[in-house]
Amino acid sequence: MILGIETSCDETAAAIVVRDQFGHSTIRSNVVRSQLDEHAAFGGVVPELAARAHVTFLDHIIAQACREADIALADVDAIAATAGPGLIGGVLVGLTTAKALAAALDKPLLAINHLEAHALTARMTNGVAFPYLMLLVSGGHSQFVLVRGVGDYQRWGTTIDDALGEAFDKIAKLLTLGHPGGPAVEAIAKLGDPKRFKFPRPLLREARLDFSFSGLKTAVRLQAEALAPLSDKDVADIAASFQAAVSEVVSVRAGQALARFKAELPDASPQLVVAGGVAANRAIAAALADVCEKAGATLIVPPIALCTDNGAMVAWAGAERFALGVSDPLDVTARPRWPLDLADMKVPLQ
Ligand code: KG4
Ligand code: ZN
Repeated sequence: MILGIETSCDETAAAIVVRDQFGHSTIRSNVVRSQLDEHAAFGGVVPELAARAHVTFLDHIIAQACREADIALADVDAIAATAGPGLIGGVLVGLTTAKALAAALDKPLLAINHLEAHALTARMTNGVAFPYLMLLVSGGHSQFVLVRGVGDYQRWGTTIDDALGEAFDKIAKLLTLGHPGGPAVEAIAKLGDPKRFKFPRPLLREARLDFSFSGLKTAVRLQAEALAPLSDKDVADIAASFQAAVSEVVSVRAGQALARFKAELPDASPQLVVAGGVAANRAIAAALADVCEKAGATLIVPPIALCTDNGAMVAWAGAERFALGVSDPLDVTARPRWPLDLADMKVPLQ
């Protein structure tokens, strides 16, 4: 039974998760406090405000997670916290809290890579077996990762500029739709014509599995400026045309990544796991479902509350590592950057 703590961005979260000897999970509690209200006036996440809000609320969120799980803190077997990558002030709050609890309760500490937590979530929710391909699309990341085992990752592609969620957020800001932008753009796009504007599909003609969204963002801005003042129909058509462009980019890339998966792992059944807040987007999910069907691959989308940042995914990643005999020293450091495929993710003697 593991306590998981997540504070790397604008969610203060704690959860109690049990992993049994067969690898089955039970989420005993999963408490998430979003800081949307704190940051709303600024149109994005303000790192210093985020860190302070984590300090204010984390203790209460942990207490609530224990209450809802009907356990005492001393009942947990280990304490896991996100140690990076993320906004460093927030990461420090969560990791330092975890260290203090581990020291006071004499429990092992697990310093979790946030990306690993996203990567392993589908094993908690759907019992997915290794290997699989993960597409992580959130406010901070857009990447394809081959997940071969716990601690065993190979990044196949990433974004060379904006993350996909970030692109949604910036388009929403441009169209004055509010923050976070993803849900707002999706809602207004439903009313628009996705064919009115033919926005660029960046990098799509190149074989590499990387993304780039800044050129697309500029094209959208130039179009909006050319039409200004924008009517409601203009806004809806721009949102719909933008969403059509990114859906095409993401699904074509996913098809290419699945082709590589099949070529490099001919004996494995192809599986695509989606993680991150953008997984909530129905147009993108539908495009991915289509591409998986054509490729004969299984698409796994965990429940959206577990695709976005939460403590249960951190607890689960901790449980998977703990089950393999891993724990971390109390002087482990918080890291603003921490790519998944560094050698130090590896689990010894797996
Ligand atoms: O995973 P997440 O909750 O937080 C991190 O970034 O780690 O993802 C949040 C991102 C935001 O950029 C938000 O605009 C985007 O996911 N998002 C969406 C949708 N819902 C959330 N993007 C597109 N369509 C959505 N329905
Ligand atoms: Zn995340």
